[in-house]
Amino acid sequence: MNDRIPMSVIPGDYAGLQPGEARCPGPSVQDIVERDAKPAPQALRETNYRFLGEEDIEYSRYTSREFFERELQEIWGKTWQWACREEHIPQVGDYYVYEVGPYSVLVVRTDEGIKAYYNSCLHRGTKLRPEEGIGSAQELRCPYHGWTWNLDGSLKSVPSAWDFPHVKPEAYTLPEVKVGLWGGFVFINLDENAEPLESYLDVLPEHFGSWDMSKRYIELHIAKVLPCNWKTGMEAFLESYHVLETHPQLLPGTSDANVQYDVYGDHVTRFYAVGGISSPHLEKRLTEQELVDSMLVGDRSVVGDDLKVGEGETARTVMARYLRKTLGEKYRASLEHFSDAEIIDTIEYHVFPNMVLFPGVSLPMVYRFRPLGTDPERCLFEILFLRPVPDSGKHPEPPEVAFVGEDESYGVVPGLDPVLANVYDQDTGNLRSQQLGFKASKKRGQTLGNYQEVRIRHFEQVVDQYVQRAVR
Ligand code: FES
Repeated sequence: MNDRIPMSVIPGDYAGLQPGEARCPGPSVQDIVERDAKPAPQALRETNYRFLGEEDIEYSRYTSREFFERELQEIWGKTWQWACREEHIPQVGDYYVYEVGPYSVLVVRTDEGIKAYYNSCLHRGTKLRPEEGIGSAQELRCPYHGWTWNLDGSLKSVPSAWDFPHVKPEAYTLPEVKVGLWGGFVFINLDENAEPLESYLDVLPEHFGSWDMSKRYIELHIAKVLPCNWKTGMEAFLESYHVLETHPQLLPGTSDANVQYDVYGDHVTRFYAVGGISSPHLEKRLTEQELVDSMLVGDRSVVGDDLKVGEGETARTVMARYLRKTLGEKYRASLEHFSDAEIIDTIEYHVFPNMVLFPGVSLPMVYRFRPLGTDPERCLFEILFLRPVPDSGKHPEPPEVAFVGEDESYGVVPGLDPVLANVYDQDTGNLRSQQLGFKASKKRGQTLGNYQEVRIRHFEQVVDQYVQRAVR
């Protein structure tokens, strides 16, 4: 076992630096990426950190019903959230029911494009479709008394229409929910005065200029209920500070303390973790060949000479070249245009409130965290793997959602890499204890790192901006 450098000294010995200025010793992400054989795009060559304060974040915001209800109203009722992928509803008549907290939205593909409606009948309120999921219909018929709407939302028929002379069809079109499309995702917003999705997404469209997420398909879709507040769950994935303690097996082949953190406008933050180097916490420097070997998952014997590090080469170059070839063959898509960084690094964007998006090629996930019903201490965590669409352009059909039981391991999911399953088990395994610890604590809030946990602070500050509208 590679010993760790005693970097975890008691804080306070960085005299002379302003808060937020201290960084992990050793090469930065930018130092490492600068040396890549196949250069990274501009979006990955910039840093955008700023110090956002150092006050504790109160635990009550993760446990209080009153705070949660303000979030339901001011966040979930007023922000852009991705409801489904366009490939969930490829044909006219296909629909997807998206639910969050008490809200339920029916997203429908019509002749005029994708529309979304409040999933509630205009007769006596019954949900037009009972629960989250996909389906297809040429009309939207209420299961209670049979009132029916066309896909475009216009009223089609009312049984015993003679009894409803006061129902004027033009006043009984289904109320619409705002829809926005980006990168193959269908976003909805329940606020009719919402700003356009494009401006809400801040730097995302610019950064994703060379990462066309509409040219990805869903290979795997996993869902698990977590026994914690939705923010507790999501914040576990906004920092890499926990890797040292929670995922020690990852230290030999990846960065952790030297991960780069960026904060942009209100709705977007990022972390950028480089692969093909060791954690700065490890005492022994691995050779480039040892680094490659530590990154490889699965049977080493099948890769032959493809993973031999040549004279003057780095582990990053060799691994990127190998994955560019093998993943390209596996997904029948040319990956030649991707830089080394885009192939092997872990690049993670957060879009407020609940989308976590990885544009990289070997770790191409999307996470989504939602409150479950109206319980502030339960949430739904979904993981989707978005792989490159084959060069033929044919979009494979979305898979069924694989549900993992609350006390079950991610190892039960067919097709999920066991190494990643273990990482997700480790990540989610902390959350029940943390949620319970919030309530067991004498201390009133969590103390965040100025740099490594800045995205959590940024996120919570934006939560405040939204919920404080409820108390004005
Ligand atoms: Fe929908 Fe009556 S509640 S038709």
